[in-house]
Amino acid sequence: MRAVAIAHPNVALVKYWGKRVRAGNLPATGSLSLVLGGLSTETSVTFDPSLRHDRVLLDGREDPETTARVSACLDLLRQEAGVSTPALVESRNDFPTGAGLASSASGFAALVTAGAGALGLHLPAQRLAEIARLGSGSAPRSLLGGVVLLRNREATTVCEQIAAAADWPLQIVVAVTTSGPKAISSRIGMARSEQTSPFYAAWVETHAADLDTGLVAVRNRDFPALAAIAEHNCLKMHAVMLTTRPPLLYWTPATLACLHKIQELRQDGVPVFFTVDAGPQVKAVCLPGAADDVAAVLGRLPGVLQVLRSPLGEGARLRANAD
Ligand code: PMV
Repeated sequence: MRAVAIAHPNVALVKYWGKRVRAGNLPATGSLSLVLGGLSTETSVTFDPSLRHDRVLLDGREDPETTARVSACLDLLRQEAGVSTPALVESRNDFPTGAGLASSASGFAALVTAGAGALGLHLPAQRLAEIARLGSGSAPRSLLGGVVLLRNREATTVCEQIAAAADWPLQIVVAVTTSGPKAISSRIGMARSEQTSPFYAAWVETHAADLDTGLVAVRNRDFPALAAIAEHNCLKMHAVMLTTRPPLLYWTPATLACLHKIQELRQDGVPVFFTVDAGPQVKAVCLPGAADDVAAVLGRLPGVLQVLRSPLGEGARLRANAD
């Protein structure tokens, strides 16, 4: 009744911001992402009849909002297994939690993988993705490795691996500009954007074309084309965030300094582009040979606290010999 899983966060190059229908946590748009193999979440799930209710420890701390979302996923797994036993969930990240590094994606991908493992369930990938999506709309993307496409299909979403990590060995340099958790969660932020941003409708309307352009760029291993569409889509999402009421201004001065520097580097011929999620951290995506220089340059910018490096990684998996 116990299993341990490892999953990695992912960063979207063509992003999801906004839901189709609140029930089931269905994204309004598809998305295209990279799995960051250098950052990890490890989650253990132990179903224990002596517990009175689920307990969730995230980096050693309990948080009622997270526990409710975790229990919603566990309920579906329990339903599949025909049991009602409460669980103890312990999850640790080796990177800053809740600060725009997609800890919820890796967290829920690891949770459903470990939960299903602990119950001895062998669910179809699509069902596991649906259960992970309840916790976080971007979590199904962390179930697979490399470059992942999430598409809406009828009343659900489906994930597909577009390239494995070894197929296109991109490197991601993460410039951490704030270490604390973000002020407004993605879930609350996107609900506000749907209701108040005058740009939200245009974001949804123009999204399918961005997704197709990103997909073609990955399939052709066309780095300049991927750079152009990823930066455009990122800035368009932030335009929606900035025009939300009250505004969602996730950037710090160091975030902006990184964006300028990355554009400058690219103009000088360095194969790198940026993307930023709902937080102040900047992810610089590079062709392998450029990562050392990009990390060194970003690390020297004022306000950059830490630089993390990551290759593309694998999807969520059970850890063998879980102790
Ligand atoms: O999965 P959530 O609910 O944490 O939302 C993720 C939203 C973004 O990271 C901003 C974009 C994305 O597609 O990952």
